[in-house]
Amino acid sequence: MSKKIQAVRGMNDLLPKNSSLWLEVETRISAIFNSFGYKKISTPLVEKTQVFQQAIGAASDIISKEMYSWQEANGESLSLRPEGTAGVVRAMIEHNLPRDGVQKVFYQGPMFRHERPQQGRYRQFHQIGAEVFGAENAKIDAELVAITHNLWTDLGLKNLTLEINTLGSNADRQSYKAILVDYFSKHKSELDENNLRRLEQNPLRILDSKNKSLQGLIAAAPKLTEHLDDASKQHFEDFKAYLECLKIPYKINPHLVRGLDYYSRTVFEWTTDELGAQAAICAGGRYDGLVEKMGGSPTAAVGFAIGLERLILLLQAQNISLESPVLSIYLVAFGEPAQRKSMQITQKLRRALPTAILYNDVSLGSFKAQFKKADKAGADFALILGEEEISNNQISLKPLKNQGSQQTMSLEKAINYLENL
Ligand code: HAM
Repeated sequence: MSKKIQAVRGMNDLLPKNSSLWLEVETRISAIFNSFGYKKISTPLVEKTQVFQQAIGAASDIISKEMYSWQEANGESLSLRPEGTAGVVRAMIEHNLPRDGVQKVFYQGPMFRHERPQQGRYRQFHQIGAEVFGAENAKIDAELVAITHNLWTDLGLKNLTLEINTLGSNADRQSYKAILVDYFSKHKSELDENNLRRLEQNPLRILDSKNKSLQGLIAAAPKLTEHLDDASKQHFEDFKAYLECLKIPYKINPHLVRGLDYYSRTVFEWTTDELGAQAAICAGGRYDGLVEKMGGSPTAAVGFAIGLERLILLLQAQNISLESPVLSIYLVAFGEPAQRKSMQITQKLRRALPTAILYNDVSLGSFKAQFKKADKAGADFALILGEEEISNNQISLKPLKNQGSQQTMSLEKAINYLENL
């Protein structure tokens, strides 16, 4: 026997026993997006590397060490998408969509980052995200937070914290960067290697450092919120006021800077302390300068993405099962004429009971073996087609979970009984 081949590290199979939970989560999120008037967009898993470099920033961890990139025969560099926003912005510009007015879109799919895998952090993971183009006001920032808040409530999730911050305008950030570099340069000897690199390339990211010995130094660092222009200050005040009238509690985290370079003004994260180091379930913010930077007309933009693996882990940690009981029926048939008839009967049943699960036996074993399969499938009823039923043009119905005896009747009567359960 040749050696078994295993999946790539950090890239997981979604097995049948877990897939219904995923499907239910995706269905509920899509329903919420629909109710807020968002339309689905799908962009390719592969883009020109330049799309991500321009959007996310060459010095970011994602671009400098985590992308899956390769060269085509013509020399062009392509990459698997590490996130969804850059591709959506590319598509918006390519199809001129913001010209038609405010665009509210959502997407779902796999993303790829060459990170060190651990619980909640994978090399292939899935995001459901939303992006809005052409709306400048903080009202839309708050609407996006409301969408996620509604989702947590709908799923029954508890103990999620909304952390918010503002990164100000580009100009605010440039002058603040100079202040930060000045501050941290005076404490260079305390910085580790990673943060010395950040001091050169992206000093804001030092504020995000998890290094415990730096926390005092970071806490005492000058705050961006003290260096904002009036318009950015007002935007943050408006955002907070909208959250307050939505009764969504928040925590201002002045060190929330995000690892992608495109943000300006509002940034936010929903975090949990139930998943160890991988605390962010959902993250996003405003990126008003990005459409123009990528070759489009100046367009305000804001969005977020939910990490689906982390959301599922949190549902499991909180013992939340979203399964609702569905009527399930197992069709047991014996003998060739009955096997043929069973095909016609299931078609009729499917039309009459569109939400029920109908298993038509495919093992063609003995009655006993088929009943065992019906039990294993967790069916509520067995519908039995044997020689006697075939010759009398009837069907037998047997409850498998509740007490009750097997009864023989016409198919119409059986359908009527099942419809009215
Ligand atoms: P992000 O913070 O890089 O933002 O990712 C968003 C979410 O994806 C994270 O909060 C986390 O739940 C999940 N996630 C990220 N990396 C991994 C991983 N390696 N394994 C499992 N889950 C992961 C973005 O991607 C932005 N595009 C969000 C956004 C949309 N901002 C504006 N619009």
